[in-house]
Amino acid sequence: MKTIIEPFKIKCVEPIRMSNREERRKHLEAAHFNLFTLQSRHVIIDLLTDSGTSAMSAEQWSGIMRGDESYAGSPSFFTFEKKVRDIFGFKHVIPTHQGRAAERILFSVAVKPGMVIPNNNHFDTTRANIEFQQAEARDLVIAEGSVPDLDHPFKGNMDLALLEATIAEHGREQIPMVMLTITNNSGGGQPVSMENIREVSRICRQNQIPFFLDACRFAENAYFIKLREEGYAEKTPLEIAREMFSHADGCTMSAKKDALVNIGGFLSLNDDKLAEEARNLLILTEGFPTYGGLAGRDLEAIAQGLSEVLHEDYLEYRLASIRYLGEHLNELGVPTVKPPGGHAIFIDARSFLKHIPREQFPGQALCCALYEEGGIRAVEIGSVMFGRFDPKIGQELPAPMDLVRLAIPRRVYTQSHIDYVIEIFADLVQGRRKIRGLAFTYQAPFLRHFTARFEEV
Ligand code: F0G
Repeated sequence: MKTIIEPFKIKCVEPIRMSNREERRKHLEAAHFNLFTLQSRHVIIDLLTDSGTSAMSAEQWSGIMRGDESYAGSPSFFTFEKKVRDIFGFKHVIPTHQGRAAERILFSVAVKPGMVIPNNNHFDTTRANIEFQQAEARDLVIAEGSVPDLDHPFKGNMDLALLEATIAEHGREQIPMVMLTITNNSGGGQPVSMENIREVSRICRQNQIPFFLDACRFAENAYFIKLREEGYAEKTPLEIAREMFSHADGCTMSAKKDALVNIGGFLSLNDDKLAEEARNLLILTEGFPTYGGLAGRDLEAIAQGLSEVLHEDYLEYRLASIRYLGEHLNELGVPTVKPPGGHAIFIDARSFLKHIPREQFPGQALCCALYEEGGIRAVEIGSVMFGRFDPKIGQELPAPMDLVRLAIPRRVYTQSHIDYVIEIFADLVQGRRKIRGLAFTYQAPFLRHFTARFEEV
């Protein structure tokens, strides 16, 4: 088989500033060992996130020029609304400035204190927005989904028995919605099968509970279904996406992922009453319903991005490039979540750095080492992000896994950038015993990973 090449040519470039190890050590100390506090110009390869970091196409930039900036009733809104309806199929389309704004609005109108919202795995903003309403965000991913080393085609699936038990335990009055995150970011960028979507939907309908998809990476999920699920090989990604959404009552979307833009999102749903309440809140905090915190030009770029992200050549290249990184890291003996996800490779830092105890954040330690060694920025998805300090026992409670995510921005890096990342890992494998654990010197009460400060142990 031939190399799967990047299915695009580069028309506009951004320089990368090179740095040496001493400079990076200084930057790391100044950032208190928290890579969110680094200046991005001090980073060589930025794999912090695939969110808002896509390269836009010539057609998207043309859309930016076409954007109409009328306060109300802009034609750019109708282009956007038509495209979202065409793919997602829900009645109401409410633009927001990004995914978490859609979440906050949805949960503000639908969630009351003490309620429980099941999901395969809630992402950090979803969880935080639910907890902000004094409700519980409950993770019900299948058991296989929490075993990093185990190979399974749809590790993002929800455990249906656990879902039914949760509904039996709390009753439908206490469960305002069930969510599924496609692909399951916190669980390793793993897809959810069509069968699982269909079954979750069936259980929700039986119990009259609304069903929402967290749709950020819907196109990658659709392509995994095409590759791995029986009966979908001949379907187009668009057909598969439409079928996925046909089982749900609505979705939240961060356009910063699979709409290939740098900012934007939306809430889309069928329920008229919820939509009305959501629009009222939108006007209060985001803006008028035909722009929702975005510029008309952003709406044009999203509409075009939603078309491009479903091209087969693009999706084939996208999943192949992530797999390439994962397979090469495994050849070096770096343990990763298997199989490779749709937007990132997740390294099992707890098993890679066995000499660092959980309470000293092996994931964060690996992120710092990657930066110092090669100027690569990754993100910890583990005990810093999801663990908690328990004041009663005066101790850190670790998360189930300590992962480091290498998220690959869409259409930004070429294969030689990825080869460089692999070479840096080869060096880390040699020197891993020298990597040191970390301790908090400051942490905030919510989403502590963004602003935390650490010192080396
Ligand atoms: N849901 C999922 C599954 C996400 O991955 C994110 C963002 C959001 C919701 C919120 O969207 O950022 O537009 O407000 N994930 C980014 C990441 C930040 O790096 O994985 P947002």
